[in-house]
Amino acid sequence: MKSSVVSQLTFARIDLDAGLKSASAMTPEQIIDTIVQSGLRGRGGGAYPVGRKWSAAKEVHAQRKYIICNAAEGEPGSFKDRAILSGYAQLVFEGMTIAALAVGAERGIMYLRAEYAYMAGHLESVLAARRNAALLGKNICGLKGVHFDIRIQVGEGAYVCGQETALIEFLEGHRGEPRNRPPYPAVSGYRGFPTVVQNVETFAWVTCVLARGAAWFQSLGTPKSPGLKLFSVSGDCKRPGVYEFQLGLKVAELLRMVGGENVKGVQVGGASGLMIPKSQFGRRIAFEDLPYGGAVIIFGKERDMLEVAHNCLSFFTSESCGQCTPCREGTRKLLDGVERLQRGSCTSAYLDTLISLGESIRAASKCGLGQSSPQAFLSIAEHYRHELMGRRSSNG
Ligand SMILES: Cc1cc2nc3c(=O)[nH]c(=O)nc-3n(C[C@H](O)[C@H](O)[C@H](O)COP(=O)(O)O)c2cc1C
Ligand code: SF4
Repeated sequence: MKSSVVSQLTFARIDLDAGLKSASAMTPEQIIDTIVQSGLRGRGGGAYPVGRKWSAAKEVHAQRKYIICNAAEGEPGSFKDRAILSGYAQLVFEGMTIAALAVGAERGIMYLRAEYAYMAGHLESVLAARRNAALLGKNICGLKGVHFDIRIQVGEGAYVCGQETALIEFLEGHRGEPRNRPPYPAVSGYRGFPTVVQNVETFAWVTCVLARGAAWFQSLGTPKSPGLKLFSVSGDCKRPGVYEFQLGLKVAELLRMVGGENVKGVQVGGASGLMIPKSQFGRRIAFEDLPYGGAVIIFGKERDMLEVAHNCLSFFTSESCGQCTPCREGTRKLLDGVERLQRGSCTSAYLDTLISLGESIRAASKCGLGQSSPQAFLSIAEHYRHELMGRRSSNG
């Protein structure tokens, strides 16, 4: 199978350090205003407006502030951050430095997932080159009294550590468990100091926005979801790989480009995303329609949707941190229920009970892990109910 060509990304055409050069000639307010004007939202799944987060962090008076790059990339089906880190790490570090100028931070940390530890040497050499060029360290970019440096901390392999407050707990040396919010990290994060946490891809787009201007970014995508986005495309298609698309792209258009027509369903957002049936392939991948974490998994006609739901729930059951009951116990119960469905010993009323359990887990869980763990099952139960119950008559 042929993979998409990662060098076709916009990142390959951005002049190195043009974004930082432009930011270093601006006031912090002007940098934040540029990001606000661009309409850039986080690319890690939550789609929170980046400029709003930076404003909150800037407004807090604190002895220290931190910039954290979230390179956890734990979502099954996501591999776009790996592509960015291996090909365009300098844009990510440049984006972190721009964020530091905007909010007044002197320290940066990249949380690198354990499975990407093999990249640490490469990333350290990019950081060293930036220090030699006075783009990191003391008085960066020729600005007297402006200091910023970045260190890399490698994770231990837990999916929940991608959640920003669990990530901060881990970086502080504790067990990686989500905190109660508020306070949000922008106000009180790493060691209680204001902390901006952004996804790898978000920082790379920050650099592009500063290099090319807010108007360029705003002119792409949709009014509510401006700009470009990377997608990790996998599953039953002819050309899996990392793709760059404008937001607002229809699922059907994406399928055509990756050679995935005539399929049964597409999971947009990885294991925690919704399963979209063929009848909804006209929907758009954008903040205002389908949420866009970046992982797109394609399921061909022969795929067993119950098995897909089972795979997702097994993953979340083993990755739950166990702090809250709806996620810890509910996800386990839902998985038991799906196994009952797989044995064919289930009634329509029992399926409805499972749906209601899934809705309760979604509503009552403390963090995004539990809130999204039933998504695949719920959307499969909604769109493929006939297949689920048909299995009952054939098996039971
Ligand atoms: C269970 C869970 C796992 C997450 N994993 C990641 C991840 O691997 N990478 C990431 O950038 N954000 C992840 N997030 C989202 C982060 O909490 C946070 O919203 C994000 O890093 C903010 O950056 P962004 O606004 O630039 O996307 C995860 C959230 C949850 C609930
Ligand atoms: S929802 Fe799950 S992962 Fe999140 S805090 Fe509760 S138990 Fe932990």
